[in-house]
Amino acid sequence: MSTGQQMHGRVDGRGLSIRLEEGDEAFEAVQRLDFAVEPGEFVCILGPSGCGKSTLLGALAGHLAPSDGTLSVDGQAIAGPSPLRGMVFQHHTLLPWRSVLDNVAFGLKMQGIGKAERRRQAAEMLRLVGLAEFAERWPSQLSGGMQQRAEIARVLINRPRLLLMDEPFGALDAQTRSRMQELLLKIWARIGTTVVFVTHDIDEALFLADRILVMSPRPGRFIEELRLDFARPRNASLLTRPDFTHLKRHCLALLRHEEGRELPRLTPLGLPLSEHPPLRIAL
Ligand SMILES: Nc1ncnc2c1ncn2[C@@H]1O[C@H](COP(=O)(O)OP(=O)(O)O)[C@@H](O)[C@H]1O
Ligand SMILES: [Mg+2]
Repeated sequence: MSTGQQMHGRVDGRGLSIRLEEGDEAFEAVQRLDFAVEPGEFVCILGPSGCGKSTLLGALAGHLAPSDGTLSVDGQAIAGPSPLRGMVFQHHTLLPWRSVLDNVAFGLKMQGIGKAERRRQAAEMLRLVGLAEFAERWPSQLSGGMQQRAEIARVLINRPRLLLMDEPFGALDAQTRSRMQELLLKIWARIGTTVVFVTHDIDEALFLADRILVMSPRPGRFIEELRLDFARPRNASLLTRPDFTHLKRHCLALLRHEEGRELPRLTPLGLPLSEHPPLRIAL
């Protein structure tokens, strides 16, 4: 979403390849990626397990360096980790011996901000993620979904230009997951930060994103770009709409695509049902 106020958080990848080592062998985990993400945009990277999604996100976080090409945020090459590029993984990184509030305030402590101010900002972040009443609990006293909400607050308190999410809801049950997706969209509508969200879940990508970049199996390359103009705010009724299932069918075909075959093409919606191939959901 472009709010007009949000001028930071543009990402550019040019000819980006990342080489990893497996035993004695080096291989390219992602290969020649060319892409851009606009400030405030919500982009999902969708691809099968092992295709290099986490590798790409690791490079955006500054944990991995490109072996070829360039990767920059707001025109500056990424040279290492920064709180301005915050990462949320599948499992939270809250410290068990600190209260939820102090966990969220921790980033500000690192910046040298005084106790009263960082507690005030942390309380505001906890309100944003719906955890105001749980500020004084220990992380272990929260449910899995609440722990991930606290984790999001912990990252957002640094006012990142880029929110990086690596299958953040992958360990949650289906209902919690769907509530978390709606909550994330509400938070994003408020703060307008650029989001790069990695998932292998087609429904999740279609529900959340402004745009989906679909990756091939390893070595990961972008094989499709889908712009989603579903109106916002979005809710779960979107998942059963014909235009949603039409795109879902296309994404399924892309994820099942085999090397050397012609890529599946997106056909216009509105063909008589009999002309659609049957939808088989077996990833
Ligand atoms: N630290 C590492 N060293 C060697 N190989 C790795 C390492 N991390 C991931 N890989 C391999 O690189 C490929 C891409 O991994 P990854 O980016 O984690 O994929 P994804 O997140 O899409 O599942 C996989 O084949 C994986 O086995
Ligand atoms: Mg991964």
